[in-house]
Amino acid sequence: MKILVSTAGRHGATDSLGRELARVFEHSGGDVDLRAPASVACVDDYDALVIGSAVYSDRWVPAAKALVDRVSRSEHPPVWLFSCGPLHSSDRPVNVTSDAAHAASVLHATAHRTFPGKLDPERLSAGERQIFENSGAVAGDFRDWVLVCNWAREILACLTAGTPGS
Ligand SMILES: Cc1cc2nc3c(=O)[nH]c(=O)nc-3n(C[C@H](O)[C@H](O)[C@H](O)COP(=O)(O)O)c2cc1C
Repeated sequence: MKILVSTAGRHGATDSLGRELARVFEHSGGDVDLRAPASVACVDDYDALVIGSAVYSDRWVPAAKALVDRVSRSEHPPVWLFSCGPLHSSDRPVNVTSDAAHAASVLHATAHRTFPGKLDPERLSAGERQIFENSGAVAGDFRDWVLVCNWAREILACLTAGTPGS
């Protein structure tokens, strides 16, 4: 089972979720490629694609959107999508951005999930810090590894059963 995991963000949280998905896939015997979107050329060899993007001001990052566009232009294996964004998931609605909805539509994605992310104010650019300070969002590490691992297992179960549908 050959799986491509390709993620894009600005400060590492989205990539860390991608690495965790890859770890679970590999632990279960999957043959996993972990690649930045810009380095993905051809997806013909894969049994599944997992594409993830950080969310900034309700948008996916450009590199992830560009990958979605490239992949959507030809035949491709089943696709799972995730967004990394909400910083305190318990009291905010899950956000499905227009970019995620577009990606799900053009790739006929099997599923899209939104996972809590991480925000360290010290790592932000001046512009990002201004947006963050005006947003009322709370800084911290809200990544939920159990959620991420469980989703990886759901994807594997679908692939093994040959019935993508999670
Ligand atoms: C300037 C700024 C804008 C953000 N906008 C959103 C947003 O619109 N929706 C959201 O869910 N999270 C938003 N976030 C939170 C980020 O998506 C979160 O920190 C994420 O984990 C970043 O991933 P990365 O480290 O891979 O870049 C924002 C964070 C910053 C700093």
